[in-house]
Amino acid sequence: MKVLVVGSGAREHALVWKCVQSELVERVYCAPGNGGTGGMARNVAISVADVVRIVEFAKRERLGLVVLGPEAAVDAGVGDALRSAGFNVFGPNRRAGRIESSKSFAKRLMVTAGIPTADFEVFSDPAPARAWARERNGLVAVKADGLARGKGVVVCSTVEEANAAVDAMLVHSRFGRSGATIVLEEKLAGPELSVLGITDGTDVVALAPARDFKRVHDGDRGPNTGGMGAYSPPLGVDGAVLDEVLNTVLKPAVRELAASGDEFRGVLYAGLMLTPKGIRTLEFNARFGDPEAQVVLPRLESDFVALALAAAKGTLASIPEPTWNPRAAVGVVVASANYPDDALVKTGFPIRGLAEMPRGVQVFHGGTRFEPGRGLVTDGGRVVTSVALGDTVAEAREKALAGARQVRFQGAFYRSDIALEAI
Ligand code: AMP
Ligand code: GLY
Repeated sequence: MKVLVVGSGAREHALVWKCVQSELVERVYCAPGNGGTGGMARNVAISVADVVRIVEFAKRERLGLVVLGPEAAVDAGVGDALRSAGFNVFGPNRRAGRIESSKSFAKRLMVTAGIPTADFEVFSDPAPARAWARERNGLVAVKADGLARGKGVVVCSTVEEANAAVDAMLVHSRFGRSGATIVLEEKLAGPELSVLGITDGTDVVALAPARDFKRVHDGDRGPNTGGMGAYSPPLGVDGAVLDEVLNTVLKPAVRELAASGDEFRGVLYAGLMLTPKGIRTLEFNARFGDPEAQVVLPRLESDFVALALAAAKGTLASIPEPTWNPRAAVGVVVASANYPDDALVKTGFPIRGLAEMPRGVQVFHGGTRFEPGRGLVTDGGRVVTSVALGDTVAEAREKALAGARQVRFQGAFYRSDIALEAI
């Protein structure tokens, strides 16, 4: 079978890497891919939201499976168009993808389905939003309703901060249309957790849990990013927590989507907080996390393509539950100077050191591209993820950090405290 992975980040490199290992697969394509996917699959120069060309390509190559990596592909309706044309797609249709692309849709769904989440209100006028925040002494999270590449959430501690965040979105259009409607939530506290479920619209299997480090600097300082590193399994997360997330979060969400006519096939990602009052759902994503995929997929022992195909076809109940490597995985993202301020990130710098990786380190490329005559150069904010498995989190972390240290390009930086909490 031929498989296409849509996307160009380190998450997609990890997906390609996993697909290549499948016995069901004869060839893997990645659209548009990056400097890493090009080494193990064939990159196809089609952008993630180019619905027409993706469908044409699927027909020409008679693809057996298409895996949607980023939310932009889901939101463009790539899943809808491919399904209408009869293809197996691992990734939801656009309407089901609103669970990620509209935070107000997600919150209302959580209420209807009885999924535990923070108290909230939806606003499009600044005055009532400010008043809601003032009643809570500014202890709120202000969220752009639409897609904002992981950067549309401001967690506030004072009324001034909350007012500034409300105004940035509703008055100054900081996120354009994505921020023309906002969700205000009560501010919660506690360790975070990502649990991803593979679903065919009816059945759901939980993947190994992970913890993502969203702030740009050590000690959880600086602005939110798409994720600077992750590890699996996270401290304090046992089978009971995982079962609770499956039964009170993932399954009710999948059921509610199906009941409202928006069957979801693909990966449903729950971003959760373990608060003193219990598990709360912060957000859903309609795809794998990045960098969660880079630490979850290396622990998956089962054939990913078999799982994804069963989810795409609606036959998840007929295949065995996935099995997991008990070893820990740690991933450290090496980023470009000024990330996550994309306007200030410069690209095109040669990348050195990838040929001298320590044993057992797997490097997944994110923002890289291959330039004839120059070799591999940087091509984005999050350049690579250095991933390692270990018998302990400490061992995995040491190796992943040794890998990150090897990756050299102008302005490279990484967090040195990923997974440190578990040691
Ligand atoms: P989200 O995109 O909704 O997951 O939010 C991004 C990040 O903001 C989360 O990973 C949390 O670190 C933080 N966050 C979101 N909602 C809340 C909340 N209600 N209280 C405290 N922190 C939050
Ligand atoms: N790592 C968070 C995300 O992929 O949304």
